[in-house]
Amino acid sequence: PRNIYLSRHGESLLNAVGRIGGNADLSDRGLEYSKSLSKYIESQHVENLRVWTSYFKRTMQTASHIDAPQERWKALNEIDSGACEELTYQEIADKFPAELAARDENKYHYRYPRGESYEDLVARLEPVIMELERQKNVLVISHQAVLRCLLGYFFNKSAEDIPYIKVPLHTIIKLTPMAYGCHVEYIPLGI
Ligand code: F6P
Repeated sequence: PRNIYLSRHGESLLNAVGRIGGNADLSDRGLEYSKSLSKYIESQHVENLRVWTSYFKRTMQTASHIDAPQERWKALNEIDSGACEELTYQEIADKFPAELAARDENKYHYRYPRGESYEDLVARLEPVIMELERQKNVLVISHQAVLRCLLGYFFNKSAEDIPYIKVPLHTIIKLTPMAYGCHVEYIPLGI
């Protein structure tokens, strides 16, 4: 059996202050996660592991201690929140109340002004999913919305459910695809 390991990047300086999007560095806690992630992966002795990250600093920094070949994918970048990049949810509510309401109404199809929707993400993730299906052991270090879409694919979630799948920080999600369905294990690293 092969495994697909999924992880969000460690906490970034923007996560720490509740701001979405952007391209921030890891916080001290995030750095700590990157180190314990590499220790965990090392302890598993995963055969021919490949590590995939997005092009954002926070995922590449999270991968930086792992001794395995790495590949960057633009398609793994976080949802582009366009006009709302680097805002807090409160600031979005204050500046664009109608946008927030529209998003609450239909989070999967809602597209940020000059940005993306979850539906857009699913479309751009298609080549990633195709390649994941061909690979053996892979660790994907990406972002909350992207990982929701990947989990939605592996567990056949509906468009309604995908944007609400829980993907906690500092937790490895270990998938074991089987002939029918997929086994999942959540491994919080306690950071
Ligand atoms: O807050 C972290 C983050 O990855 C943001 O960059 C992104 O916009 C958000 O999560 C996605 O989650 P939601 O769709 O619930 O806002």
